[in-house]
Amino acid sequence: MTITFRRETFRDDYNFSNSAVGIRRFPFPFDRDHYMYAVNIEPHVKGHPGTIYESLIDVDEHYVAEMQDRALVLAEDPLRSQSLPHMELAGWDLLELLMEQLAAGYPAHFELRRSGKRWRWVNRPLGIDDTFVFGAASTLPYGPMEYITRQAQGDFCILDQRDGNLWMDAGMVTTQADWSLDFDLGMNFMEWHAPVPRAHEMGVFDRALKFMLNLGQGQPMRRFNWTMTVNPRLDTSPETYPKWGPDRRSVTADNVGDKVHLRVELQSFWRLPRSNAIVFPIRCYLIKLEELVTVPKWARRMHRVLRDLPPDLVDYKGLTRWRPIAVDYLAAFDDGAATSPGI
Ligand code: HEM
Repeated sequence: MTITFRRETFRDDYNFSNSAVGIRRFPFPFDRDHYMYAVNIEPHVKGHPGTIYESLIDVDEHYVAEMQDRALVLAEDPLRSQSLPHMELAGWDLLELLMEQLAAGYPAHFELRRSGKRWRWVNRPLGIDDTFVFGAASTLPYGPMEYITRQAQGDFCILDQRDGNLWMDAGMVTTQADWSLDFDLGMNFMEWHAPVPRAHEMGVFDRALKFMLNLGQGQPMRRFNWTMTVNPRLDTSPETYPKWGPDRRSVTADNVGDKVHLRVELQSFWRLPRSNAIVFPIRCYLIKLEELVTVPKWARRMHRVLRDLPPDLVDYKGLTRWRPIAVDYLAAFDDGAATSPGI
């Protein structure tokens, strides 16, 4: 599969957009007309060509621009990539997983050649051709986790499993929905989820943690999360809040279709073979409302979900200020027809 990479930005002039193909493959996350938290976990298996499941590590038309944006974030704030000393083996596990998946899924763009521990990695879109010794960090320009996640879309958390819990002991986090790796580093599953409303009382996190602790190797799982963002900005972190927070006041009836984006996270979970850690890639997909409403069933459902979202979730997701404007915009695309469960 050969991809044509778009030249676009996720800051300043914000000229990100999706092609017609990009819109068609967008992972619209709602399978009914209302939304509430749930343990919505399913096996991460391959799906049809033309969907985001064509390959288990998805690369799309935004790849090169997203990697450029990540490099800009890291240049300003190196703490977006952190790995505690005991996580280096997990970093090598992740490097192997991503190189294998990228090379298998996109042979026109990525190539991995192995001769014992001597590996050659070719990444054509980013112009990389490196030879290194697997397991020897001194043979790479960065540690193994940072090296490979500078070349893979989405954020990555690596969780150490011990004492019946998961600990966020490493990660590359530059495209996050208002949370901080630097703040969460070293926290456990319940601690980093503490700010989430309702889900603790609903038992969602108890069940989810049990599930994760039993994750088997070679049996990756996935779930979706979503929020909404004003402007197609990938880096909506607490660290840069002064740069993007005030944008929430900029939404008007005239610009809402262009400015407000649905932000969908495909989260997958993979057990890593040598370290027994879990890697949690959080792959972010953006679509502006103007693009979303070109699919009538999405427009209808998005209207109902946003209109009826419980107030505590509205607040937590940061939608309070401009939600009525977006609901009004979407209402024009909702003919009131009954919908069926499923997408
Ligand atoms: C939110 C990380 C697994 C459900 C979050 C947040 C983080 C996070 C950092 C933001 C919390 C904040 O506001 O500061 C992770 C990591 C996971 C993981 C690293 C891998 C082990 C799960 C699983 C579930 C889940 C398995 C299943 C139910 C949620 C929910 C939210 C959340 C419902 C709130 C999202 C929203 O409303 O936008 N997670 N999570 N997480 N997480 Fe997880």
